[in-house]
Amino acid sequence: MRVFATSLKPGLKRREIMLSLTHVSRQFERASSPVIDDLSLNITNGASVSVRGASGCGKSTLLALMAGLDAPDSGDITVGNATLTRLPPTALDDFRKNQLGMIYQQFNLLDCFNVWDNIAFTARLKGNYVSSRQQSLMRKMGIEHLADAPLGQLSGGEQQRVAICRALNHEPALVLADEPTGNLDEATSDKVASALFDICQNTSTTLVVVTHSADVARLADAEYQLHNGKLHPVQDDGQ
Ligand SMILES: Nc1ncnc2c1ncn2[C@@H]1O[C@H](COP(=O)(O)OP(=O)(O)O)[C@@H](O)[C@H]1O
Ligand SMILES: [Mg+2]
Repeated sequence: MRVFATSLKPGLKRREIMLSLTHVSRQFERASSPVIDDLSLNITNGASVSVRGASGCGKSTLLALMAGLDAPDSGDITVGNATLTRLPPTALDDFRKNQLGMIYQQFNLLDCFNVWDNIAFTARLKGNYVSSRQQSLMRKMGIEHLADAPLGQLSGGEQQRVAICRALNHEPALVLADEPTGNLDEATSDKVASALFDICQNTSTTLVVVTHSADVARLADAEYQLHNGKLHPVQDDGQ
């Protein structure tokens, strides 16, 4: 089922394509075959997609391509009106700063800042920092009480939720989440994943989630399996 929220990002119309990959391939040096192989995908504005697949099948590589952090050997990647594969580096930096929320598999938080300042980072960089919005985000992720904590005191699961808040705090148009609940117990995973999908749906933010969890994958409008460099739709069995 596809769900379309009503509040749309500026410049994009309802049901317009937000993220488009066209015949994208990526092969690393010394690898015998491409990890992403002639892959095409369209995601409409405000929709959510989940991607599952075996370890090493290329899920993080796919997200890095969508983020413009890596470039394909061939094919085009377009986000909104910008073709990432043809943007000059400064425009690519602006795209990531203004449009993209990235939840890295390894978190990539800033050790020298406390929790609050880590989460504030993206919004301060973009220039749309609002402390009440940040507070509400942290409450939804169950980490409001950790605002002043140094990163070194946090568990993996707490750091993961800091990374999620940071990726949402500047109200990006596109959120790419790499195993965002991989460090959480089942109950917390359910709560955090639901909050992530709800926030994105309510703000018409396009969401791509890589996950090993069938329960998390099922929350998405469209489910895919990455195998042999291509995305295969997963049929909803209704369970
Ligand atoms: N920068 C890189 N250089 C060379 N090989 C890489 C690089 N990044 C990933 N790979 C290889 O590409 C494959 C897919 O990696 P990755 O995208 O991290 O998989 P997944 O996230 O699905 O576990 C793996 O075989 C990995 O070793
Ligand atoms: Mg990975």
